[in-house]
Amino acid sequence: MTHSFDKEFALRGLSATGQELSDLYREADSLRRQTMSDAVYIRGIIEFSNVCHNDCLYCGIRAGNRNVTRYVIPAEEIMATVRQMPGMGQTTVVLQSGESQAYSDQEFGQLIERIKTETSLAVTVSAGNRPRDVYRYWKECGMDRYLIRFETSDPKLFHYLHPDCLLSERLNCLHVLRELGVQAGSGFMIGVPGETLDILADNILLCRELELDMIGIGPFIPHPDTPLAEEKNAYASDSEMFFKALAVLRLFNPDAHIPATTAFDAVFPGKGRNLALQRGANVFMPNSTPAQYREHYQLYPGKPCIAETSDQCAHCVLARIRAIDRTIGTGPGHSIRQKSK
Ligand code: 5AD
Ligand code: FES
Repeated sequence: MTHSFDKEFALRGLSATGQELSDLYREADSLRRQTMSDAVYIRGIIEFSNVCHNDCLYCGIRAGNRNVTRYVIPAEEIMATVRQMPGMGQTTVVLQSGESQAYSDQEFGQLIERIKTETSLAVTVSAGNRPRDVYRYWKECGMDRYLIRFETSDPKLFHYLHPDCLLSERLNCLHVLRELGVQAGSGFMIGVPGETLDILADNILLCRELELDMIGIGPFIPHPDTPLAEEKNAYASDSEMFFKALAVLRLFNPDAHIPATTAFDAVFPGKGRNLALQRGANVFMPNSTPAQYREHYQLYPGKPCIAETSDQCAHCVLARIRAIDRTIGTGPGHSIRQKSK
């Protein structure tokens, strides 16, 4: 079936019910199989610091939240963790943190270099808006990919949610990363307060326009220690919308790596990420943060895997992938867009 990838098509998918909805899920799953195969890439995520100087309204580790115990995981401990990863089917490490100088730019570059020299892992970083020179230096140190979500495509809503940043600045980071030859990932939250179906459709369209290598999306979940504590997800009464967004996202971005993000499990405990893998996603990012830090990195409440260890998550994810008859991705799982360029 051929489609024109316009807003009308996106809105039709997002409004699907009954038979149309089953067809949408089936189409997204079969397109994923065609373009990305049945392999699920496992990318272990280490939340290496929760120190952040920003005050994003939705985020549990925002600077203004005094209830958070702040931490920075020492380099040696990160190295000990990454050394375990290849043995557990993990071919990429994702290093995520708040936006801060928890590590200096140079120390962090040296850490990337060590991981690249001492292991076979691909390195993805997710540490917010940084100047071009910093991205370039980290790329020279071996950084393969960078994740930075635009969160919402509506500039006014973006500004309301992010007192410290403009949408144009965020998009410029993506532009710079692309120019530097770093594989670029972005995405958005589904259902932030003030989001309309129109904005959700525009979010999906923007992902396509940006020609992203990786796209992460997940439901917004109100955190009690934030200014949005009393708000509800815009689709609280229709949580099917989270999967519709994911399936439509796949149709619009056939060859992007799309993870089944952790927030899907927060909304549908024990099965959200599996369902996401069956409705368009092809990547799983198990929590590889050393156990003692996990409870302090709660961007939203109900986050799974807080009481588990890296080892438990690593085994759990393998079992989950097997349970839905999929295979484990081998090799680094680089962007297939870059290959075809
Ligand atoms: N609910 C859902 N997702 C959230 N994130 C941050 N706070 C929340 C929340 N309250 C997401 C953002 C960010 C990613 C790391 O986590 O999209 O980019
Ligand atoms: Fe952490 Fe299943 S992935 S317990």
